[in-house]
Amino acid sequence: MRKIFFITSILGVVLLFSSCKTNTKTNIIKDNFDFASKQFDYAFQVIDSAIQNDTRDADVKAKNPLVSPRTLNEDGTLRMRPSREWTSGFFPGSLWYMYEYTKDPKWEAKAREFTATVEKEKMNTGTHDLGFMIFDSYGNGLRLTDDQSYKPVILQAAKSLITRYVPNAKTIRSWDHNKDKWQCPVIIDNMMNLELLFWAFKETGDSTFYNIAVTHANTTMENHFRPDYSTYHVIDYDTITGEVLHRNQHQGYQDESTWSRGEAWALYGFTATYRDTKDEAYLDVARNVANFIFTNPNLPEDLIPYWDFDAPNIPNEERDVSAATITASALYELSTYGGDKADQYKKWADTIVENLTNNYRATLNSDGGFLLLQSTGAKSLNSEINVPLVYADYFFLEALLRKQKLESGKGLF
Ligand code: GLY
Repeated sequence: MRKIFFITSILGVVLLFSSCKTNTKTNIIKDNFDFASKQFDYAFQVIDSAIQNDTRDADVKAKNPLVSPRTLNEDGTLRMRPSREWTSGFFPGSLWYMYEYTKDPKWEAKAREFTATVEKEKMNTGTHDLGFMIFDSYGNGLRLTDDQSYKPVILQAAKSLITRYVPNAKTIRSWDHNKDKWQCPVIIDNMMNLELLFWAFKETGDSTFYNIAVTHANTTMENHFRPDYSTYHVIDYDTITGEVLHRNQHQGYQDESTWSRGEAWALYGFTATYRDTKDEAYLDVARNVANFIFTNPNLPEDLIPYWDFDAPNIPNEERDVSAATITASALYELSTYGGDKADQYKKWADTIVENLTNNYRATLNSDGGFLLLQSTGAKSLNSEINVPLVYADYFFLEALLRKQKLESGKGLF
């Protein structure tokens, strides 16, 4: 009798634990969106007050209004930035993700309001970041509402982006700054802008967009990777011969180190490029990059990387939560393309999302209205160290939505 009682009790405990585990797993998405819903209501108040307290001259304000939160200043106040900043599409994009999850028209209205503030960047030919700025804002808006008035904005952004294509170097130029140092600097981040060009090709049938995107990806594949699939941040090309002139870091620790967010951009960018081309070479790159990240002895147990895989004082270095959210979102997609590690990719992404939720979340009605803490923008430039960053939040929400779609048996796209 005692034996039966003992076995029944053990079974009960096992069942209780497994049901708790299931609950945590199913609720983690809802829990985060519920949190985001309240936190973004707070963010709107902080944003309004930051705009009211903008001390710049009236003509400067009129020309370049502050439209989008980026991070916190050292004194804890919100750092709002104008639309020309590379980060301006992420807050509108996050609001579109709120709408996608909740279907609440309140979030659609807010997403539309913030999206409209970046429209003028469609004409910006001085940056490669148009994918981030326009595709994450207008692109998500079009996907979710089919608002046809968004199409010309996105198409114009794609046209502006391809003006930066340098045919002799077979690449899209990233930056115009530091002209004394670099002729044609291309950063690994630039892979993230190709989705915009693939969209423009599908929309117009004009193969120029497709060919430029694929050529850029091929050039990046050739020159940005070391044999172990770690990445250089900046490759500088000769604009006449196309020869590689420099291999540098800018936001990472040093030229031969691996900047964690750069590695995350590579993972995401090559996974997305496989989606649009079905060229297995890109899938191989993405899998090799995942392998680099997850076999790296300097990746902490909770899978939230330090800001650089080779930072000099590991384990006493800051994390970069943004690299983790980008990685998680990319891994959910990569897990849908088969291969012997497909299940593992999903498990790693789940672990990242779980650890971020449990240990890196901001405080409700505080932290400037951001969702996650402990990102690092550019420690090498002494900038944005161990702070919330708007793009960490954007990719976190995207990862959660991807997790939800995968777990309910829906395709991601
Ligand atoms: N794309 C700029 C950055 O990742 O900091």
